Amino acid sequence: MTNAQKNRKVVLIRRPHGMPLDTDFDVVDETVEPPPAGGVLVQVDVLSIDAFIRTVLDEGSYHATAGIGHAVTALGVGRVIESNAEGLEAGDHVFGPLGAQTVASLPGPALRKLDVRYLAPTAYLGALGLTTGLTAYFGIFEVGAVTTGDTVVVSGAAGAVGSMAGQLARLAGASRVIGIAGGPGKVGYLVDDLGFDAAIDYKYEDLEARLRELAPGGVDVFYDNVGGDILDAVLMQIVEGSRVVICGAISQYQHMDQVRGPRNYLKLAERHARMEGFAVTHFQAQFPRAEAALAGWLASGQLVMREHYECGVENFPATLRLLLTGGHQGKLLLRMAPTDV
Ligand SMILES: NC(=O)c1ccc[n+]([C@@H]2O[C@H](COP(=O)([O-])OP(=O)(O)OC[C@H]3O[C@@H](n4cnc5c(N)ncnc54)[C@H](OP(=O)(O)O)[C@@H]3O)[C@@H](O)[C@H]2O)c1
Repeated sequence: MTNAQKNRKVVLIRRPHGMPLDTDFDVVDETVEPPPAGGVLVQVDVLSIDAFIRTVLDEGSYHATAGIGHAVTALGVGRVIESNAEGLEAGDHVFGPLGAQTVASLPGPALRKLDVRYLAPTAYLGALGLTTGLTAYFGIFEVGAVTTGDTVVVSGAAGAVGSMAGQLARLAGASRVIGIAGGPGKVGYLVDDLGFDAAIDYKYEDLEARLRELAPGGVDVFYDNVGGDILDAVLMQIVEGSRVVICGAISQYQHMDQVRGPRNYLKLAERHARMEGFAVTHFQAQFPRAEAALAGWLASGQLVMREHYECGVENFPATLRLLLTGGHQGKLLLRMAPTDV
């Protein structure tokens, strides 16, 4: 048995209104008990900073609501310190709902042992991650059913899911991939680094006018991560038989009691188009197949994932704000170690 472990965690002390503030959270130090039978202690290395974290801070969230006084929900990767669970031993790399803390105590079945021989553990948060690569995969191949020759538009395109979705659309045969993102740096990243055909800076350009220019034949598939005005603008450009994929609506997550529905939804009727939402967990039975495909494309260099790191568990609230304000490109990660290593 190891010595008592010290844990530092970020707990929710009140539910935010709008943008989460530092004063909505507290940083708490505690000693962790050894794991019970079937339990595991995990040294948390890196957390995935995901849009759903904002939604679990609210009462009545689709994902389990974060409890007041508890470490905030977050997925992450880490290493087993001590195990009383079958199939896991000290030193194993694992993925699971580790939470905003440095040491997590969890039942063994909540964790997945990772094969890190060919991939870094953080690949299981990004390119192969449940909330990133797998989400984009099912949104593009299953819900959007992207096929040869499609013109595909992706919103939130320079973020984690969006940057994967655009690259996967190309691999699915799209002839034209257009990203929508905020700021010239993101537009450059999409076109120069990720091979998007074009990108629109929704903050400084006229989205509808630019879309008409860039997709004169209309939009076959819209992969939407944002909702609100952006969804309305793209709905105006859909064609006969379009598929509008509702992956998320991050523009609405800070006021979930007043979500704004699409104003231009009648375009769906006019164009005999469909709009379909999904949660990645609906496709659980197909995860191994999707993960194998993603790993293959990653190994061959056909898929790339930029990682943006912040450091220190106490910076969890600030890192969540960074996600909501778009201060990153690619996958936003929080390393638990206080300084970059
Ligand atoms: N359906 C599922 O199972 C599933 C699973 C995982 C994630 N998702 C969804 O996927 C989406 C992306 O999540 P992510 O974790 O990959 O985050 P992300 O895209 O890495 O980061 C969020 C991005 O959203 C953009 N954004 C924020 N507020 C905005 C606004 N008001 N208008 C326009 N853009 C805004 C920002 O980029 P800009 O600088 O470009 O504004 C920011 O970078 C979210 O909607 C999330 O809920 C769905």
